[in-house]
Amino acid sequence: MYSTLALTLLAMPLAFAQSSTTNPPLSTLLPQIDAAPSLTPTIYDNSAPDPQRCPGYKASGLTNTSSGFTADLTIAGADCAAFGNDIADLVLEVVYQTKERLNLKVYPKYLSESNITRYTLSPDLVPQPQWDGKTSASSSDLTLKWSNDPSFQFEVSRSSDGEVLFSTYGNVMVYEDQFIEIKTSMVKNYTIYGLAENAHDFLLGDNYTQTFYAVDAGNSIDYNSYGTHPFYQETRYHNGAPTTSHGVYARNAHGQEWLLRDESVTYRTLGGSFDMYFLSGQKSDGSSSALQTITQYQTGCVGTPAMQQFWTYGFHQLRWGYQNISIMEGVVQGYKDANIPLECLWNDLDIYDNYQDFTDASLTFPAGPFRAWIESLHANNMYYVPIIDSNIYVPDPNNASDAYPPYSRGAALGTYIRDPSTGQFYIGDGWPGFSVWADWLVPTSQQWWTNETSSYHEIIPFDGIWIDLSEASSFCVGSCGNGRTTENPVHPPFTLPGDVLTFDYNYPEGFNVSNATEASLAASAASSQASAVSANPPLPAATTTTQGRTTPTPGVRNLDFPPYVINNVQAGHALVKGAIAPTATHNDPSNTTEYEMHNLFGLQISNATYNALLEIFPGRRPFTVGRSTFASSGRTTSHWGGDNTSTWGSMFLSISQAFTMMMAGIPMFGADTCGFAHNTDYELCSRWMELSAFFPFYRNHNVKAAISQEAYRWSSVAEASRRAMSVRYSLLNYMYTLFYHAHTSGDTVMRALAWEFPEDQTLAGTYAQFLLGPSLLVTPVLEPNVDYVKGVFPGIGQGTRWYDWYTLDEVTGVQPQENVTMSAPLEHINVHVRGGAILPLQEPTLTTTATRNSSYSILVALDGQGAASGDLYLDDGYSLVPNATKIVTFSYSDSCLKTSINGTYHSTPPLANITIAGVGKAPCGLSLTIAGQECEVGAVVLSHLNETVSITGLEAFTGEGAWQGEMELILQY
Ligand SMILES: *[C@@H]1O[C@H](CO)[C@@H](O)[C@H](O)[C@H]1NC(C)=O
Ligand SMILES: *[C@@H]1O[C@H](CO)[C@@H](O)[C@H](O)[C@H]1NC(C)=O
Ligand SMILES: *[C@@H]1O[C@H](CO)[C@@H](O)[C@H](O)[C@H]1NC(C)=O
Repeated sequence: MYSTLALTLLAMPLAFAQSSTTNPPLSTLLPQIDAAPSLTPTIYDNSAPDPQRCPGYKASGLTNTSSGFTADLTIAGADCAAFGNDIADLVLEVVYQTKERLNLKVYPKYLSESNITRYTLSPDLVPQPQWDGKTSASSSDLTLKWSNDPSFQFEVSRSSDGEVLFSTYGNVMVYEDQFIEIKTSMVKNYTIYGLAENAHDFLLGDNYTQTFYAVDAGNSIDYNSYGTHPFYQETRYHNGAPTTSHGVYARNAHGQEWLLRDESVTYRTLGGSFDMYFLSGQKSDGSSSALQTITQYQTGCVGTPAMQQFWTYGFHQLRWGYQNISIMEGVVQGYKDANIPLECLWNDLDIYDNYQDFTDASLTFPAGPFRAWIESLHANNMYYVPIIDSNIYVPDPNNASDAYPPYSRGAALGTYIRDPSTGQFYIGDGWPGFSVWADWLVPTSQQWWTNETSSYHEIIPFDGIWIDLSEASSFCVGSCGNGRTTENPVHPPFTLPGDVLTFDYNYPEGFNVSNATEASLAASAASSQASAVSANPPLPAATTTTQGRTTPTPGVRNLDFPPYVINNVQAGHALVKGAIAPTATHNDPSNTTEYEMHNLFGLQISNATYNALLEIFPGRRPFTVGRSTFASSGRTTSHWGGDNTSTWGSMFLSISQAFTMMMAGIPMFGADTCGFAHNTDYELCSRWMELSAFFPFYRNHNVKAAISQEAYRWSSVAEASRRAMSVRYSLLNYMYTLFYHAHTSGDTVMRALAWEFPEDQTLAGTYAQFLLGPSLLVTPVLEPNVDYVKGVFPGIGQGTRWYDWYTLDEVTGVQPQENVTMSAPLEHINVHVRGGAILPLQEPTLTTTATRNSSYSILVALDGQGAASGDLYLDDGYSLVPNATKIVTFSYSDSCLKTSINGTYHSTPPLANITIAGVGKAPCGLSLTIAGQECEVGAVVLSHLNETVSITGLEAFTGEGAWQGEMELILQY
C-alpha cells in the first residue's frame, strides 16, 4: 500500500557494518558472571506464609503531644517470622502535620548508631515533611482513630463527613527486620492512580501488583521499572454528589510491593519503617480533588519540580549510533534542509573511547573538531547534551596505556561503594567492562563528580547532562571483577546491537509487507543468522539454578536473598541480578548496605549532577535528565521514559506513564519518540512525533543498528513534525508558564481528563486523550492504518466550549460523553482549545531563541459566559534566580480584554494580533487603551468571520514590547 516507503532492508547492513567497531571482542568473559538463581516471587508462592497470621501489636503508654500523640507498640504474641525476624518493641508517632496532611510513623524502639539507617530514611536523602507548628487533631481535615482490639489497628477518615480513607481495621501490622506489612480495606472497585514508575493502564485497577526495585529493563510493562514513587491518589465517585480525592505517600526506599486486590491494598517492604503521609486533597472550601491531592504531595512531601531553561522545551534529537562528527553534521543539515525545528543534539555512548565516561573517541570524535562543532551549534542557537553512564571503568592495573584518571581520582578519595567480603571497592560490570560506582554518602564524592564533569565541560562544552544506568545497573552478579580487572576492557556478558550475528531483520510492527522478494530475503537472512548463532553461540548461555524460599534466621538478615521475594522483572527475580548486590556497603559510619540504598542511587547521582552543573554554569538552571528516580527527584532532574520499543503499544503507554510522572512531581518527561528498540516506520513515527510535541520533554531517540528515524527521513514524518512543532513552538510560553506554576505551586503540567473533569466518571480510565495544562485537549492517533480518531469533548453539554486549534471553529452538535469521530490525516493531530482560556502565543520558528524574539499574539477562547482568562510568566529563560520576572494576567468579559502586569522583566517583541474565538456577533469597532493612553486605532484591522474576531496591526502601539503597559481593548457594538 505504501510502497514508496518500503523499509530499506538492503540499506540496513550498512548501518550494521558501521556499528561494529567499538565493542571489545566477545572473548574470554564468561556469561556465568550474569547467572543468578531463579526464585519464585512470593505473590506466586503458594507455600509462603500469610503474614496476616502474625500476632500484630498492642499500643500502650499513649502520650498526647501538641501535634498528635505517641505510643509504644509491643508484639501481641509469639514471633511469627513470616519473612524476617520480628521486632517486638516499636514506637508509634501520629502527627497532624498540617491541616491537609497527617503523618503516621512506626519504627523500632531500640535503635543504635549502627542500625538506624536500616530502619529510618535520612532527611538528608529524601525530604521529611514536618509539622507546621500549629495544626492539631481538632484543626485537621483528617481524623485518625485506633483500637487495640484484637490488635493495634488504625483508620484515617475525613473530618468533615467521616468518610473512611484508609483503614487497617481487621488486619494486623507486621514488623520484621526484612519485612513490614500493613493492609487497608478499600471501597469496592476503587479508583487509584500513581505508584510511578510503571508502564501500565492509568487506572491501576484492583488486580495488580506494583513492585518497586529500580531496574534496568526496557519496556517493563506491569513490573518494576526505573523509578520508585510510593504515592497514590484515590478518587471516589459518589453518584452525583461531588467527587472526592485523597492521597497516600509511604516514605520508604526499600524494595517493596503494593498489592492491589479486591477491596484491599497491602503495602509490603523489605525493611525500613512505616512513614505514611495521608493527604486530604481538600481546598480551603472543603472540597477535594485529584489535582489538589497531587499539589499537596508536591508542595508538602517531596518538593516542587525544578524550573527548566526555556530552550529545553525545543525539540531534541538523539540516537545510539551517531558514530562520528560528520554524521552529526548530517543530522543538523537534514533538519535544516527539511525546515524542521531542531534545538538540541545529543550523543549516546558513541562519543567515548570504549564506553568510558569523559574520554574521547579520538578517531571519530576528536576533541578539537568535536568542540568546534558544538560551538557551531551554539552560534546557531542550538544546544548539546552528552550521555554520562553511572558506572566508572576500572582500568587494567598492569597496562599503563589503559590508565583512566576519573577512576584513579575517585579511588584516591575512597569514593566508591565497597565489597564487604574484601573491604575493597565493589567491582561489577558495565558497558566498558569491570566497573565501580560512586558512593554518594562519601562527602568528597560530590567534589570528585563536579571535578570530572567540569573538566569534561572544558573540553566538550555541553549544555546539560544525560545520566544513564542509574538504577544502578550492573551486568553481572556480585563483585564479579574481583581479581579480574587485568582482563579489562571486557565486553558485557550479552551481545550488543552491532555485534556479529545481532542484526534485526524484523519489519516494523504492523508493516504492510508489499515487496515479497525483500521479505523472503529478510526471512532467509534471519534464519541463517539464527542457525549461525545456535551452531556457534557468541556467548554460551549461562546455566541457572532454582532456589527455594529462604527462611528467617534469628539475628541474621539475608540481604541478597531475603525471605520475601519481590516480583522483580529480572530473569529469575533475584535482587542480585542486573544490579549492584544488596550486600555491597557504603562508606558512612553505619556502613549502610545497598539493600537500603538501591532505590536511591538515581536520586543521588541526579542531585550530584545538578550540583555539578551549578558549578559549571553558576546561577543557571541545571538541565539534567536521569533514568532512575525516587520521590523528590523532580527538584533536580528531568526524566525520559527509558528504553521503549517502536510499537503502537509503547507509544500509547507513554501517556499513562507521563501522567504518573506528573503525579510524581517530574513534569519534564517524555518518551523516546518513534521508539527506541526495533525498527520504526513512517506511520508510527509520524503519529509519535505529533503526540510527543505535546509532552514537556520532546526527544527522538533510536537504538544502534535499527533504521534511521530522524523526522526528515520520510516526507510524511517531516510534514507531521513541522505541523505539530509549529503548534508546540507557538505555545512555548504557555508550556513555560505551566512549569512556572508547577515550580512555584505544585500545579500539574500534563493532565488526565479525569483530573480536569472529576464529575464525569466515564473518564476515570481515559488516557487516549490528555490535556496540556487546563486548556489544550490533545487527541492523538494511537493505532495504525486510520485517518480518523475518536475522542470525547469533556464537559460539553455542561457549559464547556471547545474550539479546533487550527480553524478556531467551535465544536458543536456533540452530546456529553459522545465518542466523536474526527478527521486525522497522517500529518494532523487534533488539538482543541478550551473555552475560557487566553493563550499568549509567539511565532513558531526553527529555534526557541528565534521564537522568543518573534512578535506575540493573544488567543482568546470564550466560555459559555463570553469570558476567558489566562496568564503569562516571563523571565530571562535560564537564571535560577532571575533578576527580573513578569507575570501578565489576562481577563476577558463583557467584550473587554484587559491585561494586568506585575514585575519588571522586559520582553522586547511587540504584540501583533489578538484573536477572539466564540464571538457570536460582529463588532463594529474597537477602542484600545495602553498604559492609560487611548490609542488612535485607525490602522488596526478588525474582522469577524465564523464567530472569530481578528485584530491585526497592533505592533504600532507595542513597539516597546508587548507587555510594557497594561492594556484594555473593548469591542464596540
Ligand atoms: C539495634 O542495635 C541495638 C544495639 O546493637 C540493639 O539493641 C537493637 O535491638 C537493634 N535494633 C534493631 C531493631 O535491630
Ligand atoms: C469500576 O470503576 C471504574 C472507574 O470508576 C468504572 O469505569 C467501572 O465501570 C467500574 N466497574 C465496575 C464493575 O463497577
Ligand atoms: C488477575 O490477574 C491475573 C493475571 O495477572 C489473572 O490471571 C486473573 O484472572 C485476574 N483475576 C481477576 C479476578 O480478574
